[in-house]
Amino acid sequence: MVRRVAVVGAGSSGLACIKICVEEGLEPVCFESSDDIGGLWKFKESPEPERSGIYRSLVVNTSKEMMCYSDFPMPADYPNYMHNSQLLQYYRLYADHFDLLRYIHFQTTVKSVAQKPDFSLSGQWDIVTINKDGEEERNVFDAVMVCSGHYTHPSLPLSGFPGYETFSGRCFHSWEYKDADACRGKRVVVVGIGNSGGDIAVEISRSAKKTFLSTREGAWVIGRMSSNGLPLDMTATTRLNNMLTLLLPNTLVNWAAERALNYKYDHRLYGLKPKHRLMDRRPLINDDLPGRILQGALVMKTNLKGFKDSGVEFEDGRVEENIDAVVFCTGYNVKFPFLPSVLTDGPQGELTLYKTLFPPSLVRPTLAVMGLFRSKGPITPIVEMQARWVVKVFTGSSCLPPKEKMLEVIESERKRNMKSYPCPRTAALQVEYIPYLDFMAKEVGVRPNLLTLLLTDPVLWVRIFFGPCTPYQYRLTGPGQWAGARQVILTQWERLAQPFRNQSGTGEQAVCDFSLGACTWRNSCNGFCSV
Ligand SMILES: Cc1cc2nc3c(=O)[nH]c(=O)nc-3n(C[C@H](O)[C@H](O)[C@H](O)COP(=O)(O)OP(=O)(O)OC[C@H]3O[C@@H](n4cnc5c(N)ncnc54)[C@H](O)[C@@H]3O)c2cc1C
Ligand SMILES: *[C@@H]1O[C@H](CO)[C@@H](O)[C@H](O)[C@H]1NC(C)=O
Ligand SMILES: *[C@@H]1O[C@H](CO)[C@@H](O)[C@H](O)[C@H]1NC(C)=O
Repeated sequence: MVRRVAVVGAGSSGLACIKICVEEGLEPVCFESSDDIGGLWKFKESPEPERSGIYRSLVVNTSKEMMCYSDFPMPADYPNYMHNSQLLQYYRLYADHFDLLRYIHFQTTVKSVAQKPDFSLSGQWDIVTINKDGEEERNVFDAVMVCSGHYTHPSLPLSGFPGYETFSGRCFHSWEYKDADACRGKRVVVVGIGNSGGDIAVEISRSAKKTFLSTREGAWVIGRMSSNGLPLDMTATTRLNNMLTLLLPNTLVNWAAERALNYKYDHRLYGLKPKHRLMDRRPLINDDLPGRILQGALVMKTNLKGFKDSGVEFEDGRVEENIDAVVFCTGYNVKFPFLPSVLTDGPQGELTLYKTLFPPSLVRPTLAVMGLFRSKGPITPIVEMQARWVVKVFTGSSCLPPKEKMLEVIESERKRNMKSYPCPRTAALQVEYIPYLDFMAKEVGVRPNLLTLLLTDPVLWVRIFFGPCTPYQYRLTGPGQWAGARQVILTQWERLAQPFRNQSGTGEQAVCDFSLGACTWRNSCNGFCSV
């Protein structure tokens, strides 16, 4: 019988795990090494070793209705894309509302998690923690949920670049970057075009003399703002679109989407065009990058090749002299120093995980690694659903396939993803947003049944099929059902509009019918919303 569950970390993932454990009648004990909740979203003025770090200006890249917990919508007046401090505020509201703080032991670090000698019978774990006074404690738990985050160990591949020892400028990782103050009037190179690389290059380009953005592969760049100024994910992440991408030929979907994007800014002209097709990978979400290129403040460069005294050389042979700083936005190494080494058994010493959650080598499925995946959608709703499934597996009400079968699935999913992501390690992490959520929801018994819905509640069906796949959809029926779910789906467009209403400069009140989302809104706005 699983009863006591250790939750490692009290970031957005840890909070969801605590809440779901309580909901399912388990006893969570959460260990958090820092003195606060929020993890990544708790801004720190200076980098702290082994902790994630974000820059001061960071604004989320997923919108509020899409990234919230499934039974706790964000306050209506929050902006659709909020500053990191406001997201932390939301996590505080969540923790207060569900009274989660009392399960958390702050300033307590998990040092090791090891199978008990009788693991094959008990499935139990020995966990050693160390508190702020340096006192070690050993405890036995029936199960473990690992929520320690993945942006803690920056990957800084300096030694791969000849000449860096004698380079006169400063080199540092985006993990250390807080703001562009130190870059005023300087010549700066930013390396890497992930979401951080794009944000940081744009910000630096506003105060630096010249900013260069070096990229190996380029990227498709797409703004947070979709048609009619609606949040991109609210219009793109729908069940209809999910179905269309399955039914229509890939090349057609790519052709149409790339055409639409290039219509705004031709990626080839802007030096951004990647080799991969648009739908194959996650695009870079950035509103300002093309504009900074157009204004000449930001200059695109090929892959970094090496350093020469005060200069930087790129793969096309060109050299930029007098570079003051190079910011490496080169990602992170995933590390779980407290986990037993038998679990990191992948080809390159990485974790092998069934459905990015369960190590198949365990004879008892009593440990899960939360949030270790990449998707085109927001992280939190997936982690919350992971927690709902994991708890079912812990308690035995949902069963995993035999080990051989799990390994087979892992391998076939990796193979499928290799088409878009040639690196096996990266390929193993990719999940498709709606299909992955639906898969887990089916295991839990909370997947919305579209056919039944069409017959019994066509009004809701329309929102669920044509509208954004907001997390509330997974609270309509089954275990963990929430009576408010239907209502918050019907009102999601109103919460989207609320922050705009608050700031209406004309004093006019928007009288809109949001029922069908974007289309109805535009047509029924009586001139108010039309530009
Ligand atoms: C720059 C950046 C921007 C992002 N923007 C978005 C976004 O807009 N939308 C989105 O959905 N996702 C975004 N993400 C992804 C983000 O990582 C997740 O949304 C989410 O914050 C992950 O939360 P977490 O709880 O899993 O990890 P974290 O927030 O990293 O929390 C982990 C916690 O575990 C604690 N911990 C670690 N090790 C131990 C230990 N041994 N013992 C005890 N405690 C420990 C840490 O102190 C920390 O509090 C972004 C990521 C980055 C890096
Ligand atoms: C948002 O940015 C983070 C950090 O770079 C990234 O991991 C995540 O995938 C991005 N989300 C989307 C939807 O692109
Ligand atoms: C928006 O308006 C509501 C209702 O009038 C108010 O309670 C809220 O504080 C306002 N929010 C902001 C950000 O002004």
